[in-house]
Amino acid sequence: MTKPNVAVIFGSRSAEHDVSIVTAIVSIIEPLELTNKYNVIPIYITKDGAWYSSPQFKNIELYSSGKLEPFLKKTKPLSVSFDRGMTLIQPGFKTKNTKIDLVFPATHGTYGEDGTLMGLLEMANVAYVGCDPVASAICMDKVLARDVVSKANVKMNRYEWFYASDFVRDQPAVMAQLAKMNYPLFVKPVHLGSSIAISRVNNQKELINAIEVAAFYDSKVIVEEAVNNLVEVTVPLIGNDDIVAANTEEPNQGKEFFDFETKYMRQGKSKANASSKGAHGYSHIPARLSEEMRNESISIAKRVYKTIGCSGIARVDLLIDSKSKDIYFNEINPLPGSLFVHNWKTVGISNVELVEKLINYATERYQQKQKINTTFSTNFLKQF
Ligand SMILES: Nc1ncnc2c1ncn2[C@@H]1O[C@H](COP(=O)(O)OP(=O)(O)O)[C@@H](O)[C@H]1O
Ligand SMILES: [Mg+2]
Repeated sequence: MTKPNVAVIFGSRSAEHDVSIVTAIVSIIEPLELTNKYNVIPIYITKDGAWYSSPQFKNIELYSSGKLEPFLKKTKPLSVSFDRGMTLIQPGFKTKNTKIDLVFPATHGTYGEDGTLMGLLEMANVAYVGCDPVASAICMDKVLARDVVSKANVKMNRYEWFYASDFVRDQPAVMAQLAKMNYPLFVKPVHLGSSIAISRVNNQKELINAIEVAAFYDSKVIVEEAVNNLVEVTVPLIGNDDIVAANTEEPNQGKEFFDFETKYMRQGKSKANASSKGAHGYSHIPARLSEEMRNESISIAKRVYKTIGCSGIARVDLLIDSKSKDIYFNEINPLPGSLFVHNWKTVGISNVELVEKLINYATERYQQKQKINTTFSTNFLKQF
């Protein structure tokens, strides 16, 4: 039996381009190859949007050693044919056509995780892992996600949002909108991740500066009241109709977020430049909460996943006031970095089992979708 062709798409026009390379190679391609069940095809999208495919793109050293640029120069970009499916047309001495059976998107951020790539795959009618275009787009917009989640009886700390262009046109109106909020406040661009252009502010002067920074990066800005006595908890989830949670995880605080003064006023010197190992090196699994609070966090996370319409995989981040015991929704990521493999291991799911489960969820959803009738015969054309 021939093995199914699984394409892993990564890189792309995103601030998280480099993170995507690691997710793709370490957390997806390597375990998929260990299964020996799939023909794994890497598709690398450059920072300026060119698509490439060749086995060499599975080698992480290609990206870290300065070899990438010369390699790209002598490699021809990939062509793709959408022919009731998706076929890669790999140029070479003899052109090689490869029909793709399933796509495993490994793209983080814009042009990938935000639903754009999933839209392309839906059009091509090819099976793929993870959230569909609508759920992905909702997840990647902090305001839209809150609008949808507000229907699911989930607490959210007080927030306001506005367009960057409104702030430019009528700053007093925006300041009036924010006047009743209590400091400290968080100011965030609505679509970015990785704490890019996020500030914590304590007064109006800092607030205006922080809005200018956020508005420089995004067309929408959200301002939120800070959660006090903060415990952050993230809940990795997989599944379609039946949602499975990994352990609650408490990332180490203060490693990725810096207040406005530290970040912008001191020209990034001091602790803003301190190295961060990311959640994996520092987090507590499970979160240091009572059993009851952990279960409540998981139940809220599942409700968020379902209400937004996620499928395959996502990760829900919560902010908890450890004194009042209030659990607030913060954000949801449709493709958690490195798939949060380290956490799945703590509930007995290995990296190999995880990618296989994700492929099974993708196949299940694809098959369900094929059953939905999209054609309807009419006499409409006969009149012409
Ligand atoms: N309302 C808030 N109250 C307290 N801390 C917050 C709040 N919003 C964000 N933070 C802190 O800032 C970090 C980054 O914010 P987040 O919304 O998660 O943005 P990103 O998409 O960049 O991860 C959070 O992990 C948390 O530490
Ligand atoms: Mg976050």
